[in-house]
Amino acid sequence: MAKDFRELEDSNRSRNPTIYEVSDPRRRIVLRAGLGALAAGFLSPLVSGCASAPVGRTGGPLIGFKSVPVSTADTVLVPEGYIATPAFAWGEPVGIAGNMPAFRPDGSNSAAEQEAQIGMHHDGMHYFPLEGSRRGLLVFNNEYTDDGLLHPDGMKTWNAEKVRKSIAAHGVTILEIEERGGEWRIVRPSRYARRITGATPMAISGPAAGHPMMRTAADPSGTRVLGTLNNCAHGVTPWGTYLTCEENFIFYFSGPEKPDAHGARWGLRRGGRGYRWHEHEERFDAVKHPNEPNRFGWVVEIDPMDPTSTPVKRTALGRAAHEGAWVVQTKDGRVVVYMGEDAAFEYIYKFVSRDRVRAGGYAANRDLLDHGRLYVARFDADGRGRWIELAAGVNGLTAERGFATQGDVVIKLRQASDLVGATKMDRPEWIAVDPNTSEVYCTLTNNPARGASGRPAVDAANPRANNTMGHIIKWKEDGDFDATTFTWSHFVLAGDPANSRPEAKGNIRGDIFANPDGLWFDARGVLWIQTDMHASVMYKDEYAGFGSNMMLAADPRTGEVRRFLVGPPNCEVTGVVCTPDMRTMFVNIQHPGESPTDRSDPDNPSRYSSWPSGTPGARPRSATVVIRRRDGGVIGT
Ligand code: FEO
Ligand code: CA
Ligand code: CA
Repeated sequence: MAKDFRELEDSNRSRNPTIYEVSDPRRRIVLRAGLGALAAGFLSPLVSGCASAPVGRTGGPLIGFKSVPVSTADTVLVPEGYIATPAFAWGEPVGIAGNMPAFRPDGSNSAAEQEAQIGMHHDGMHYFPLEGSRRGLLVFNNEYTDDGLLHPDGMKTWNAEKVRKSIAAHGVTILEIEERGGEWRIVRPSRYARRITGATPMAISGPAAGHPMMRTAADPSGTRVLGTLNNCAHGVTPWGTYLTCEENFIFYFSGPEKPDAHGARWGLRRGGRGYRWHEHEERFDAVKHPNEPNRFGWVVEIDPMDPTSTPVKRTALGRAAHEGAWVVQTKDGRVVVYMGEDAAFEYIYKFVSRDRVRAGGYAANRDLLDHGRLYVARFDADGRGRWIELAAGVNGLTAERGFATQGDVVIKLRQASDLVGATKMDRPEWIAVDPNTSEVYCTLTNNPARGASGRPAVDAANPRANNTMGHIIKWKEDGDFDATTFTWSHFVLAGDPANSRPEAKGNIRGDIFANPDGLWFDARGVLWIQTDMHASVMYKDEYAGFGSNMMLAADPRTGEVRRFLVGPPNCEVTGVVCTPDMRTMFVNIQHPGESPTDRSDPDNPSRYSSWPSGTPGARPRSATVVIRRRDGGVIGT
């Protein structure tokens, strides 16, 4: 989700020592040397020391396309020799038999119709093959809504039906799609077609299930909840399920004028952030239902192959403003899930399962994500790092401090991380693991508050004050993915060498970008980077040289970055996956033409963009772009 810079979330008022507060003078000297080097432009070694690593299946240079220039055109630009076709836009019927309402471009579809149509504001996405690269399930998140576009008159009037439609446009979309003659289309009807929304019944499992803080009037058991919200990025398990991650869930809840310490730490506010659901759907009124927000902020597991299955909130993975949940396996077959919490001065997490993955799909692994150890990352100034366990009774997480059970720990995860001295990061977004080297990469999208008066100072891992540009950090675990120590470095500091501010120049080798968000390794080992500059700053001041948001390809061996795609104005580029043959790539374009200041104006919806229709006056729509090479070749070569 693009966050308004004016209210950049900074709920972390914890006071872990920054590097400047560390008493060991040697550690401080390391950091000062690093900052001196930063001015000279070589703080972060771009080459990972793995130049001899295998390059992937095809060998040769990783990146072969001609770079796309920056742009502000109302279209999607891709390199010469490529075709980008918009598809799967907000409002198209997903293909439920007997329930395929046509999209009405004026926003007049009902809430019930929206429940059978593609949701709004596409984000993280995966392709599950049914017939290899020809037919499969495309599953993607619908992160949030622009209610200025969702209803005929936007939010000028407000009622329960509009709230229901807004809730219905959130969640997850599951489409069966197939390729015919180079074109991809939705299979309709399909037995797999499904919408999961902010009202879909879900189960709660793991250590928070049944916890007193999870119980509400509607669910005295604390084990059942309606819906998933603000589904940002995602993950995929080895047993074929989809993980959808609840990011800015707190935006939907209206709290008391003065929230308690727990509510304040999670950003609860009177009135929420403008969704106004609480006016007609009482469970979003956290004054009347103070535990309802605790039932959000989880990683939710969905079986896309069974449209009757109940999604499950896996609380062992912890509660956070979850960006995503990226799954890898240890050599002995356990899973490790990497997670970042996208908010200023929040943390990076890792879950290590207790059990090994068993053959037999989801049926054989239904409880696997319910048992394991949860850790938070600490990045030290000497380039080393440590995973600190978050468990009741260890590392100072005692009953006296409010952590009597693991349920307490996972529900109050931010408070637990504050106590154990984890490193406060510059908005951790996507995480990706290099298939050739097992190095783990994480985008840190920005943090203008870093180093501001009264705020946490720079540290070795977050080395720039007023970090408007963002950076990408990487680490290598000591041994297997379940290790508790690692070595880290920066992959790249984003920025523009033409910037007059030294700390915003960055050290990119190749095409410039700012605010890295989406991050994905394809099977060949190309690192795809997607950007999320906010519409309120895009095209202005030090962002002027970047044009609109974009996607780039990086060679992790050399650090070279090359621009592959530019989206339409005011959009965010987020969500990318290829078919197994790597000849079709799906990329999501979220909120084209969004207003820099508020919800879109229903009387002038195409003020900034009318993508994908291009018709003047038409409402812009989030959609997927299907990218192919004209010669049918492998994407990116
Ligand atoms: Fe939903 Fe952190 O972007
Ligand atoms: Ca973002
Ligand atoms: Ca994101």
